[in-house]
Amino acid sequence: MRVLVVGSGGREHALAWRLARSSTVTELLAAPGNSGTAMVGTNLPVAETDIDGLVDTAVERSIDLVVVGPEVPLALGLSDRLAAAGVPCFGPSRAAARLESSKSFSRDVLDAAGVPGPEYRVFRSPSAALAYVEQRNRPLVVKADGLAAGKGVAMCANLEEAKTAIASCMQDRMFGAAGETVVIEEWLHGPEVSVFGFSDGENLSPVVAATDYKRVGNGDTGPNTGGMGSYGPPAFWDETLAEQIRSEIMLPVIREMASRGSAYRGALYCGLMLTDDGPRVLEFNCRFGDPETQAIMPRLVSNPVEAMIACATGSLTDVAPVEWSDDPVVAVVMVSGGYPGSYQTGLEIHGLDGNDADEEGSLVFHAGVRNAADGSGRLLTSGGRVLACVGRGDDVEGARDRAYRRAAQISFHGAYYRRDIADLRSGQPTTIR
Ligand code: AMP
Ligand code: GLY
Repeated sequence: MRVLVVGSGGREHALAWRLARSSTVTELLAAPGNSGTAMVGTNLPVAETDIDGLVDTAVERSIDLVVVGPEVPLALGLSDRLAAAGVPCFGPSRAAARLESSKSFSRDVLDAAGVPGPEYRVFRSPSAALAYVEQRNRPLVVKADGLAAGKGVAMCANLEEAKTAIASCMQDRMFGAAGETVVIEEWLHGPEVSVFGFSDGENLSPVVAATDYKRVGNGDTGPNTGGMGSYGPPAFWDETLAEQIRSEIMLPVIREMASRGSAYRGALYCGLMLTDDGPRVLEFNCRFGDPETQAIMPRLVSNPVEAMIACATGSLTDVAPVEWSDDPVVAVVMVSGGYPGSYQTGLEIHGLDGNDADEEGSLVFHAGVRNAADGSGRLLTSGGRVLACVGRGDDVEGARDRAYRRAAQISFHGAYYRRDIADLRSGQPTTIR
């Protein structure tokens, strides 16, 4: 089969790497891909937002399956367009992708499905939002309703911060139209976990869990980032929790989407906080997570292509069950100095040869890495999040060791990574209190 992966980050390298290992895949393409996807397949110069270009490419090259990494092409209707052209797409329709692209829609679906989340209110007028936070006068979370590249969530410890967040979102239009509506939530506490499953619109595969270390500094300090590391299965994870989240949270949402005529087909990502009162949904996303994918793809034992096509065609129960290994995997993200603020790019990366799993049980997934244009074979940094060093092991400690040993072999000017990913002594990633 010919498979096309859409996107260009570490998540897409991990997806491409896993797909390329499937015996079903005869040709793997990535659009636009990165230096990592180029090692396991062929990159095509089509942007992930160029919906016409992607559909034309899929048709011209007789692609059997398109796997969409990021949310933006899905929110732009890539899956619908591919379906109309007769190309199976692993990724939901534009209407189903609203689970991620509109937080107010998502909260409405959760309510209808009877799934617990933080207490919330939706506002379309700044004055009403301001009156509400004044009346509440307690820690709150202010969220832009639409897609804001992961930056639309403001954790507001006090009234002043909440007022500032509302003003920058609704009046200064920091996120454009995405912030015209805001969702204001109660601020919950507890460890966070990302849970993923494959859905065909009606059924849901066994789920897999991974953590996401969002803050830049050791011990969960400093600003939020796109993710500094991940590991799974998390120390607090067990079969009972997995089954509870699958059957009481994720499946009811899939059923609710189906009953609204927007069957959800693709990877379903549920972001939860494990509070003292039980699991609470913070968000649903319409794709796999980054960097969680770098930690879960090495654990996918069953054939990914078969399951993904079954999701696209509504026949998940006809194929072998999706199977995840319990062997721990740890992913440590190496970033450019200064990230998530401003940083330099074009810096040479040393120690990055032999990417695939080696006898030490580690591998590297590229994110902001590109090949030097001079044909020298040098690899240069091209983004804030540069790569992820991934280790596998019989236990978390072993996997962690391998990931960090691999990281120690790689260098570029200003390279930085957290030292406490999957360090079980320092606790789980959580929000600041
Ligand atoms: P979201 O994009 O909605 O998942 O929010 C991003 C991050 O903000 C989450 O992973 C949490 O760390 C934090 N967050 C979001 N909503 C809440 C909430 N209601 N209480 C506490 N933390 C939250
Ligand atoms: N890891 C967070 C996300 O992918 O949205």
